[in-house]
Amino acid sequence: MGGPEILDPYLSKEETTKIPLGCGIDTILDGGVETKTITQLYGPPASGKTNLCLQMAVNCVRRGKKVIFIDTEGGHSVERVRQMARSDYLSILENILFYEPKRFEDQNFIVENLEAILDERFGLIILDCAVSYYRMGTDEEKASSLSRQLSRQLAKLLELARRYNLAVMVTNQVYTLRENGEVKPIGGNILKHWSKVILELRRKDSVREAVLRRHRTLPEDISARFIITDEGVRDA
Ligand SMILES: Nc1ncnc2c1ncn2[C@@H]1O[C@H](COP(=O)(O)OP(=O)(O)O)[C@@H](O)[C@H]1O
Ligand SMILES: [Mg+2]
Repeated sequence: MGGPEILDPYLSKEETTKIPLGCGIDTILDGGVETKTITQLYGPPASGKTNLCLQMAVNCVRRGKKVIFIDTEGGHSVERVRQMARSDYLSILENILFYEPKRFEDQNFIVENLEAILDERFGLIILDCAVSYYRMGTDEEKASSLSRQLSRQLAKLLELARRYNLAVMVTNQVYTLRENGEVKPIGGNILKHWSKVILELRRKDSVREAVLRRHRTLPEDISARFIITDEGVRDA
């Protein structure tokens, strides 16, 4: 680490841009998901995390930028993009690079080596989900090693986001507190620390809701509702 680039005032050199999700969530984010920062989506299974990520990927390609999609859940993403994008799905898919790590070590390797692939044609990196292979267990030494590695992945993603003016979207799972039923994002404080924008997803039957839980410059705890259709993510 180190070197003269540390002194580069990156934020003033180039404006950030925003990638729209194409539904009401864009309103609570004042236009969409911002570049040069890490945005986190957390929520229970089937709350819409992957659909939002795929929709964002399609939108990003339609705006002329390529996407890296790291899929730790092997979720038939290519088929879903074909559904969402319809007639131009081939040209969309050409511009989304899918990676499917099968272990935490492979996820590490991919993130650490993204620079070998990245250039200014890219506008978005998605890590869905960041914690699929992140299981703390009881071995304290192993747990702190895992934490360090996850932290390093996020540091690398943030560095790339700033250097290439791209957006980073990470998804996160939840657990429920036994005492009061409260839903909490997992990943300890690591994901929380690195994500400057955090959205919680909730689901009531087919209507889903996103709540802005953290933002530096926008009001928090405001929500937007959305639905999932064949064509992707839409306003409820
Ligand atoms: N074409 C579709 N039309 C309506 N709902 C869909 C469609 N495809 C998937 N879904 C719904 O999306 C949900 C899964 O969303 P997903 O984004 O994978 O959630 P998560 O990543 O949070 O687990 C499921 O409830 C599924 O029924
Ligand atoms: Mg998912």
